[in-house]
Amino acid sequence: MHIDCTINGSERRFEASKSDLLLDVLRRNGYTGAKRGCDTGACGMCTVQVDGEPAMACVTPVARADGAAVETIEGLGTQDDLHPIQRAFVDNSALQCGFCIPGMIMRSKALLEENPSPNEAEVREALSDNLCRCTGYKKIVEAVLEASDRMRSQSGTADGGYAGDCGANPTEAASKGDRRR
Ligand code: FES
Ligand code: FES
Repeated sequence: MHIDCTINGSERRFEASKSDLLLDVLRRNGYTGAKRGCDTGACGMCTVQVDGEPAMACVTPVARADGAAVETIEGLGTQDDLHPIQRAFVDNSALQCGFCIPGMIMRSKALLEENPSPNEAEVREALSDNLCRCTGYKKIVEAVLEASDRMRSQSGTADGGYAGDCGANPTEAASKGDRRR
């Protein structure tokens, strides 16, 4: 079957079988920022957005993407020009191994689009389906709150613009997760 969709604003056509899940098709076609963690919808590491809603790609039938707008971490900033959420994760040291970070950031993006000014409890609730084995969550929550502040103060210029070098390549983790593909 063919799947016609937009990915990060670009029209794409994918070959897929009916049994494929969205994560399978994304990763086969180079969108490896969405990570395969539990593969059962329990960790959030594969989170993308489908028509603006967060979706766990490992349990989303690929047919759900047909005709839809899919956003992945690859559609946010680059290592040289991070999205404000990615920038805030780096600046708050809100990542260690990085494996959960693309999913965390995509879930945070969906939250901030729906609620540009969340409080701490709302951030924790929004991220409650996204697991992290490393950070203890405190810095992640602080990063999302700081991203909220930055995006509101720079409304209209929220896509990138926070270029900077951040040492031991945490930017790679914030833009695509760690080096494990
Ligand atoms: S890999 Fe999809 S929820 Fe864990
Ligand atoms: S930074 Fe390692 S799992 Fe979250």
